[in-house]
This record gives sequence, structure tokens and C-alpha cells, in this order.
Amino acid sequence: MIIAQISDTHIALDTPDADRRLQDFAATIADINALDPASDVIVHTGDIVHNGRSDEYAQARAVLSDARAPVHVMVGNKDHRVNLRAAFSDAAYLTTNSEFIDYAVEDFPVRLIMLDTLNPESNKGDFCPQRVKNLIEMTDAETAKPIVVFAHHPPFEVKVGPDPINFDPPDTMTALRKALQHSDRVIAVISGHVHRSTTGQVDTIPASVMPSIATTLRKGDYSVDMKTRPVYAIHRYDPKWGISSETRIVGMGS
Ligand SMILES: [Fe+2]
Repeated sequence: MIIAQISDTHIALDTPDADRRLQDFAATIADINALDPASDVIVHTGDIVHNGRSDEYAQARAVLSDARAPVHVMVGNKDHRVNLRAAFSDAAYLTTNSEFIDYAVEDFPVRLIMLDTLNPESNKGDFCPQRVKNLIEMTDAETAKPIVVFAHHPPFEVKVGPDPINFDPPDTMTALRKALQHSDRVIAVISGHVHRSTTGQVDTIPASVMPSIATTLRKGDYSVDMKTRPVYAIHRYDPKWGISSETRIVGMGS
């Protein structure tokens, strides 16, 4: 099973690099479409748009409509739950009763659990008791398959960024980490938000972050010829070996 992860596209209409962000997004989807073997699913780990506006979501939606693999979206701190739901109103996975955009994907050998770490008042993440309850219930809803959890805000200390803890208050990250350890079937936790590539752990569970697709917002060092090439992540699952991950550079072929 092949999961293509994209994150932090930050589509905006009123910023000097608006066209660049759209081009980065579209080029990434085109690159994923050309993968051989093809990806089974594309997960967008949030900050789809920059200001939560409906007209931004319309642009993002248009780019994602070119994707060949099924796409699953979730919220980042820049997203807006109501406008996101409206833009993706035909997506059955968003029609749950949860007030949060959290859901499980049951279509694959690995279950995908998408979390909502949005705090509308802050750029940092939140994980309130209701969301802890939802995560535990989603985890327990099936007891055979391994699980990969996606959360926009990384639930581990990110030492390379300006602020290592991306939750406020920090205890909500502790609550999330504890809930992730509720089952030993969780084999990976995958995030975005910090716009750079890094890894960490949730106890013994490997955790990772991919850079932003928006090249103008990307953090970290990249060679000159990579400045306009987005990078995205491929996570492969194998029943024997578990998850292995790879970073791909758009437009560089195999
Ligand atoms: Fe973010």
C-alpha cells in the first residue's frame, strides 16, 4: 500500500506568491499522478489554504480534482472547518457527526485515522477531552488492522524549529500522546505544520513531519535548483516490514 502525503499548501489569493503556491500544489499532484506503481491514496495533512476562505478552498479543490488517487483532507491551524466541509461536501468521509474533522479510513490494509488538532484561536494545536474520546473510539472500532494516524501538529518535541512544542496548552499534547499509545496497533504518526522535514517518536511509535508543499514557505536548507521544486512524502506499508517512508522531489523522476 502506497500513501502519498502532501501538506501545507497554504493556498491564498492575496499574497505576492499566490501563483507560486498554486503551481507548487498542481505540480505535486501531477508528480503523484505519474508515480509507477501508483499511490493508493493521497492524504493532505492540513493548512490546505492560508486564510480559511471559501474562494481559497475553491482553488485548492480544483487542483485536487486532478488527482487520480482518492484524496483525504484534514484541518491545519490555517483551515476553517465550516468552509472546508462546504468545499468538500461531496466527500463521504466528511459527513460524520463529529463536530471535529476527525475520521477513520477503512478502505485499505492499514487503517488511516485523521485527527483534528485545530484551535481556531491559535496557530498551535489543541487536543481536548472530546477529541481524545473520539480517537480512542476510532482506534477501538476495528481490532485487526495496523493503524497510521495523521495529525497536522506534530505530537513530539521538534528540536529543529523555533518552538519545540506545537500544542497550547502543552498538556493537550500529552493527552494526545497518551491516546496514541492506547493501542499497540498504531504503527506511525505523520504530521505537517512545521514546514520542514523531521522525525520523532511517541513513546515507541515513529513519528514524522514533511516539509510544506508551498516552496516559498518551506523551512530548512535546499539547493538552488530545488528552490522551486516541492518535495512530498511517500509512505509504503508492507505487512512484513511495516511503514517505510521516502521524500520525493517534484519533477526529478524516479
Ligand atoms: Fe500549520
